[in-house]
Amino acid sequence: MNTPRVAVVIVLLCSALEVSAVSVSLAATVSQTSTPPAPPAAPVPSNFNRPPTTPVVPPVVNVQPPTTENASSVVKQVPAVRTYPPLHTDDPGAKPTVSGPTPPKPPNPPTPSGTAPPPPPGSTPTANNVTVQYGDPLPGLTNAQRNLFLDGKDGFMKVQTVEGGLGPIFNRDSCVACHSAGGVGGGSVVNTTRFWSKEPGQFDPLAPGAGLLLHDRAIAPEAQAFLPRSASIITQRNSTPLFGLGLIEAISEFTIVSNARKYPNDQIHGRIGYVRDIVTGGIMSGRFGWKAQHGSLIAFSADAYRNEMGITNKFFPTENAPNGNLELLAKYDKVLDPEDQATPGHLAEFESVANFMRFLAPPTPGPAPLGGLALFTSVGCAQCHTPMLSGGSSPVAALSSKPVWLYSDLLLHDMGSLGDGISQGAANGNEFRTPPLWGASQSAPYLHDGRAPTIDAAIRAHEGEGRIVRDRYLKLNAAQQKLLSDFVLSL
Ligand code: HEC
Ligand code: HEC
Repeated sequence: MNTPRVAVVIVLLCSALEVSAVSVSLAATVSQTSTPPAPPAAPVPSNFNRPPTTPVVPPVVNVQPPTTENASSVVKQVPAVRTYPPLHTDDPGAKPTVSGPTPPKPPNPPTPSGTAPPPPPGSTPTANNVTVQYGDPLPGLTNAQRNLFLDGKDGFMKVQTVEGGLGPIFNRDSCVACHSAGGVGGGSVVNTTRFWSKEPGQFDPLAPGAGLLLHDRAIAPEAQAFLPRSASIITQRNSTPLFGLGLIEAISEFTIVSNARKYPNDQIHGRIGYVRDIVTGGIMSGRFGWKAQHGSLIAFSADAYRNEMGITNKFFPTENAPNGNLELLAKYDKVLDPEDQATPGHLAEFESVANFMRFLAPPTPGPAPLGGLALFTSVGCAQCHTPMLSGGSSPVAALSSKPVWLYSDLLLHDMGSLGDGISQGAANGNEFRTPPLWGASQSAPYLHDGRAPTIDAAIRAHEGEGRIVRDRYLKLNAAQQKLLSDFVLSL
């Protein structure tokens, strides 16, 4: 699927049109929302070159549900059609209250006293200088968009039931169960387990029921999945925070490609992990997940619904069978697939939840310690953890042409012995997407498997393409090393 030449041609085409991921998927989900014209581009520091922007071309949405997976011949009951809040086509005013508890914001990490330059642009203050908290919607949304955010937040926090499609095998019964640190939508200490075999041909990733993700819960003890004996590679994946993902989705392909062409030093050579988006059918750069396995939020949401909660949808219409056992599946899967469906005037829940993630504000930076960015750059961290990528045009003004201070190039890097042996998306067993560092104060533990309790430990674990920079870090004195950690914790 990843014939490089084809991918490059398509992506160059996309980049020529400046069709960003968000404009494609937004057209699929919130096209009925009134979309104000994009504001003038936000100021960009002079040391970052903004690629030329061209007018947005209306995206062509080519929704092609996958045909490879067929529902098993299980006789099922009538679907439990979900009722979900209607799409707001007008602008009736924001909901007065946010349902569900909002976890308190933990204190900011300590920073050296007397050093408080203003946070980077594009992150915190709203027009009237109200500080945005973790879990808040992006500043500048229209009321209709805010309502889509709040509807999606309800879905994100909803505890799923068996009658609603949960299971038969699953990992948790809500998105928020694994995404809550710092605020609704954060990461968590919850890890999921992935497995594979060192022997080729042991597992067929396309076979129904086979999977690389272990499901550690089931709706009945008999249906409980277990690690197959042939699983010789067993690794953990730490839950990632979702703050600001709409801004990351809005970064244009053009920007990612141009940034990937920067001249490398220190034997660093990141590459774009091209994936086929399950929603549009198009080839795009993977941006989400440890392996950059998805390029759009709608695709990740659909994937998470089926694979973390066992709730099928039009993009993932087939249930995971417990250990591939279709009889057990038939016995316990009683809701007709796809379980999460749109109804007239109502989005499917996975679509609504994609809107919640899209409209979630970026992390709130703390005061950056003086000299932190300079050290971060001179040591070489910024080569992969690119401080800022420019957002492309978006039909949503609050997401359009913003500088995105994510501290990632969104590229895959070979991290040598840090690799987990699992190929996923375009990434091979040694490769990971550079994780964005914004919001790092809320996202411990670190690294793909959560092995690093501190920033220092995460840096020391860098290998492969990160080795030369890591060695430079090791030569810093203790005060400089602390400054670097404090800087990362302030992002
Ligand atoms: C059992 C815990 C668990 C549940 C439940 C869960 N997630 Fe996640 N989530 C994870 C883990 C672990 C990752 C990292 C996965 C990876 O890349 O391998 C992740 C990553 C993500 C990402 C990628 C973020 C990024 O940029 O890396 C998105 C988006 C996401 N989850 C959305 C959701 C949504 C939506 C739901 C509910 C439908 C959900 N998750 C439910 C554990 C969970
Ligand atoms: C070659 C590219 C590269 C360089 C250079 C690099 N990193 Fe990373 N960094 C990565 C990748 C890829 C990961 C993810 C590795 C994993 O999860 O196993 C990562 C992970 C991290 C994490 C953990 C983030 C999280 O959310 O878990 C931190 C913190 C971090 N890097 C900081 C730094 C600092 C500070 C420097 C400079 C001393 C640096 N990195 C240099 C590519 C790089």
